[in-house]
Order: sequence, then structure tokens, then C-alpha cells
Amino acid sequence: MSGRKRMVALLRTAVCSLLDIKYPIIQGGMAHVGTAELVSAVCNAGGLGIIGTGHYPPEWVRQQILQTKKLTRRPFGVNIALTSPYLKQISEIIIGEKTAVVSTGAGNPSEFVPGFKQAGIIFMPVVAGVAAACRMEKAGADIIVAEGMESGGRIGETTTLALVPQVVDAVKVPVIAAGGIADGRGLAAALALGAQGIQMGTRFVCSTECAAHHGYKQKIVAADDAATMVTHRTTGYPLRTLRNKLSEQFEELEKAGVSKADLDLFDRDRMYLGLIEGDLEEGALLSGQIAGLIRDIKPVRDIIEEIIAQAEAVIARLHAAGK
Ligand SMILES: Cc1cc2nc3c(=O)[nH]c(=O)nc-3n(C[C@H](O)[C@H](O)[C@H](O)COP(=O)(O)O)c2cc1C
Repeated sequence: MSGRKRMVALLRTAVCSLLDIKYPIIQGGMAHVGTAELVSAVCNAGGLGIIGTGHYPPEWVRQQILQTKKLTRRPFGVNIALTSPYLKQISEIIIGEKTAVVSTGAGNPSEFVPGFKQAGIIFMPVVAGVAAACRMEKAGADIIVAEGMESGGRIGETTTLALVPQVVDAVKVPVIAAGGIADGRGLAAALALGAQGIQMGTRFVCSTECAAHHGYKQKIVAADDAATMVTHRTTGYPLRTLRNKLSEQFEELEKAGVSKADLDLFDRDRMYLGLIEGDLEEGALLSGQIAGLIRDIKPVRDIIEEIIAQAEAVIARLHAAGK
């Protein structure tokens, strides 16, 4: 086998066959911005795209699924927020439409898992700790996404570098690394930790196809390694965003001991305001720490091809160094 072929074979991990994708690259579900255009672009470029459903109503979710089916013939996923008031109806739509994959965030999805499994849908929960990974494996997870606290959005407390190998050792199903990955070095590192692939969010926000507001994308491009902060710890759902007027005000309110109900009120619709309407001071600008590495906005296909080429080069270099 030639050197190049060997590299490509190395990147064709177990999740590539399980998910029927060319490259082990997943675009994580992202509320508001992970819509049909981005999802289908990722699938058409050889990865797995996932629709983010947030707290959107069931009809919106159905339309997104139908639109994605129009734009790609490849398999794709749907991410459900276990805090959604429409959880039951959305689960029924996913089963009815037979999407290939369902992913879930924090919470207990076990009530819905048997329905997904019976329909032949791959269940791929996102976890932030080893105990949750074991619980999800028992509940029927086919793949586990281990997400470190470097990530954009809702986070846990453990870093990707520490979390991924511990989850790999604790479960038998394939593990995907998420949080703090935006290039081929990150993919190679994830494979070295025992993961079978990567899930990215922040890198895909800065793609041409993503529905996010241009001003928000540009703020990620301009960000450095220290540009994000974590708020919402007092609510039990820590959130990583770019530092701005809103996040600093929120931090002050938390320090002052404002009640969860008042914080919720203060917070209402802030994600839509930031991510879609592009209010860079009053809106919530979800972003991971890896923002500092992202220097451009470009088509999804270029993002994915560059990551694969760089991962191959990194692995080849390490291999050569060991000879
Ligand atoms: C704008 C944005 C919105 C997100 N929304 C969700 C969501 O609705 N559900 C979810 O499970 N994860 C969500 N995430 C997390 C991503 O799916 C992904 O796991 C994470 O971004 C990976 O870390 P990275 O940002 O360092 O790439 C979101 C992330 C971002 C940046």
C-alpha cells in the first residue's frame, strides 16, 4: 500500500462505516445556526451534518429535515435539546422521517431511545463526563461524543484532552472527540487519544454556508485564545460565549446572587439576537476557545478537505520521525 493510501485508510475509522461517511468529521448540532444549508453542505463534503433544533416547534423541525433531504442524498442527523417543550413530537418526527442519526445533549433521553433504536436510527449522545458516557452506553448509545469544556455553548467541567481517553477506556462503543478542534492537528490528536473522529461547532459557524450573522462570524475570526468566557454556572447550565456586554452583565448579575427566574428573564431570546440578528453586544455569541485559531470564513468543502490533508501530513510527519 502506498504512503498516501495508508494515511487515507488510517482516517477511515469505524464511525465512517457506521455512519456511512467518507471522513470522520461531524458538524455538531447547533441551535439557530445548524440549519439545512450547513448540514447538507457538510454531508455533501463527506462529513456528517446535524440539524440543531433548540426549542423550535415541531413543524419547523420537519421543514428542516425535508429541506435537508432536498439538498443532499447523504445521511444526516438531528440534535434534540432534552429541555425542549416539544420533545415528544420532535422525536416522533425524527422516527417518521427516519433520519440516520439522533444526537442529544445534557439530560436523560432514555424514554425516547427504544423508539429510535426500533426505527434503526443511530443514537449518538453528547456527554461531558465518564459517568454520563457509561449511562448512555447502557441506554443504547451506538456512538458517544465526548465534549470538553473548551467547546462553544453549554459545557461541562473537564477538558477534551483529559476527557476523551477516559471515556475511550470506559466504554466499548466508538467515541468522537469534541471541543477545541478546528484543524487537522486536532483531528490527528483526537485519533491519538483513541477517538474515532471529531465533532466541531465553532469552526463550522465560520463557513460560507452557515446561517449565522456575518458580524458574529467575523467576531470569531477576530477573536484570540482568551476571547471567550463562561457564564450561567449558577443556573446549572454553564455557557461558553465570546466576551461582550451581555456576558459581562450576566456575570455581574450572577455575582450579585440574582435568582434563576430573573436570570432566565434577562436571558430571553439572547441567542437569536446574537447568532442570527448579529447584535454583538446585547446578544449571546456562542463560541469555543478554539476561536483564536479560526482566521477565515470559507466553504464547508474547503474546511473539511484542509483538515483531512493536514491530519494526513501530521500523521506522516510523526511516522517519519519515529523511523
Ligand atoms: C453556536 C453554537 C450552538 C450550539 N448549539 C448546540 C445545541 O443546540 N445542542 C448541542 O448539543 N450542542 C450545541 N453546540 C455544541 C456543538 O454541537 C459542538 O459539540 C461544539 O461546538 C464543539 O466544540 P467547538 O465549539 O470547540 O468546536 C453549539 C455550539 C455552538 C458554537
